[in-house]
Amino acid sequence: MSARLNDPHHKSISRPSRDALALLRGVLRQRAQPVVAEIGVGIGATTREMARLLDRPGAVHLFDHADVLDTLMAELRAEGLPEVVPHPNGRKLFESYSWTLALLLREMRARGEDGVFDFVYLDGAHVWAHDAPAALALIPLLRPGGVLLLDDFRWTLAASPTLNPARHKPTAAHYSPEQIETPHVALICEVFLDHDRRLRPMNLPPPADGGPPLRRAYRRRATPAPAAGA
Ligand SMILES: C[S@@+](CC[C@H](N)C(=O)[O-])C[C@H]1O[C@@H](n2cnc3c(N)ncnc32)[C@H](O)[C@@H]1O
Repeated sequence: MSARLNDPHHKSISRPSRDALALLRGVLRQRAQPVVAEIGVGIGATTREMARLLDRPGAVHLFDHADVLDTLMAELRAEGLPEVVPHPNGRKLFESYSWTLALLLREMRARGEDGVFDFVYLDGAHVWAHDAPAALALIPLLRPGGVLLLDDFRWTLAASPTLNPARHKPTAAHYSPEQIETPHVALICEVFLDHDRRLRPMNLPPPADGGPPLRRAYRRRATPAPAAGA
């Protein structure tokens, strides 16, 4: 096991996502060999459990900065886990998994396919600039019946231990006060995903602390729901 998983510095990302694994188990009951994607891998707490559950090479696609993926993939190999598929991007300001996903969508359409992934866990930057285009690209990248889980539904820059403006000066320079206080993932769900007729919102178990929802999930419908009033 990687020493990083026990490093207090990584405490907030050292445990696998309970909701991601529960949803993936549900997907596995319906499809024998699902293809899954994790967008934003951290130190691989959830990645490892998903790779163990799927237990075959090529089933898990990972999106993150190239250096983050290189480190994690070396660890996964050393631990004897099945080979994953990396989708790296660089660290320039506007380099992002959202761009990588757009190119993947373009390739998928060129092949004439309808969907690539049976389960996607979107857990990257949690900010509008990256996650709004990522979420929009992910809808058609889901296979019909596929599930999209968005983490950090209530996350804000203001409450982030590392990115709040007192701790991280560029935050105040890059974002308005409203953008610092607003949960970006919740806004993406509210304005795009909740109204998308290709998606059906799913119920998740309430958070253990009894607080507001921490994540939101959707299933891609086999056929889009009719428009309201149609
Ligand atoms: C919260 S961590 C992911 C935790 C992981 N899903 C888990 O369950 O343990 C967020 C990840 O998003 C990645 N990320 C943030 N912004 C990114 C960007 N612009 N491009 C690629 N990866 C990014 C970070 O490098 C980090 O690994």
